[in-house]
Amino acid sequence: RRTTLLGIPMDAGTHVPGARMGPDALRIAGLAGLLRELGHEVEDAGDLSAPSPQPVALAAADAARCLNLEEVAGWTRDIHDHAHRLAAAGRLPIFLGGDHALSMGSVSGIARHCREAGRELAVLWIDAHADFNTPATTPSRNMHGMSLAFLAGEPSLQPLLPDRPLAPLTPGAVSIIGLRSIDTEERRNVQARGVRCIDMRAIDEEGVAAPMRAMIEDWQRRGVHLHVSLDVDMLDPSLAPGVGTTVPGGATYREAHLIMEMLCDSGLLGSLDIVELNPFLDERGRSARLLVELVASLFGRTVLDRPPVRMRAF
Ligand code: ARG
Ligand code: MN
Ligand code: MN
Ligand code: MN
Repeated sequence: RRTTLLGIPMDAGTHVPGARMGPDALRIAGLAGLLRELGHEVEDAGDLSAPSPQPVALAAADAARCLNLEEVAGWTRDIHDHAHRLAAAGRLPIFLGGDHALSMGSVSGIARHCREAGRELAVLWIDAHADFNTPATTPSRNMHGMSLAFLAGEPSLQPLLPDRPLAPLTPGAVSIIGLRSIDTEERRNVQARGVRCIDMRAIDEEGVAAPMRAMIEDWQRRGVHLHVSLDVDMLDPSLAPGVGTTVPGGATYREAHLIMEMLCDSGLLGSLDIVELNPFLDERGRSARLLVELVASLFGRTVLDRPPVRMRAF
């Protein structure tokens, strides 16, 4: 595959600083070399520089409930344009975060490209959280907790991208896996929109293979461009402590690799976010290293050289 790494050194989406160091930690952990070893073409486009803050026409009460609103708006517009350009050029963009607010730009830019290209987009949000708060419901004012709501078309957030046509994700286009922390009103938003959720309870009962297989079969029938948004906090904090919003009871090493392997076999991956890695909170680089290992599984590393398994044949 022809991949492009784009570093997004932002942490304006949260009050915990440090995720701005994520892109370099992922590079130092060997991301590009590993992808090349697996036979992929890798272009490292470097880091975006911090954009100038953008005024946003949010209702005043909503604006007051969004931390660093104008910075996040500046990032969103820049990232959106880069994501759109890379996808249109036929690259497979890998967005190196940076906090999860960056997905407002990456996914909206990819969605715009998909609409122009007549491709259906599906998004897999791999996360302990739903990131479905609105300015009215956020308990923290952190915009990384609002990104999926924005992408699903939450009206109060739309002024973030004023002159770019947003193709809002339909409920059927969004799936969340790994969910185990959700705020009361946020849960109402998620349920009202009918987002497909594989929470940790479901993983405890069924494992990851059965629900992943069902989703992948559905995406394959529809021939989607799959965007994967990987939030480090989906993993159990004992494996990946380098994140500002750890939640106990996360995915195991094996579950996480199996998700990546199945996504690889699906052949649907079109773009990827790696978000919320906070090297300032990490222990000797282990979270960064684990993430890079997971990306290797997503891009085709196998224990044995077995041919990609067709999902129906499992
Ligand atoms: N739900 C919480 C909030 O709105 C936590 C969000 C965490 N999001 C993340 N991308 N880590 O603040
Ligand atoms: Mn998240
Ligand atoms: Mn285009
Ligand atoms: Mn999260």
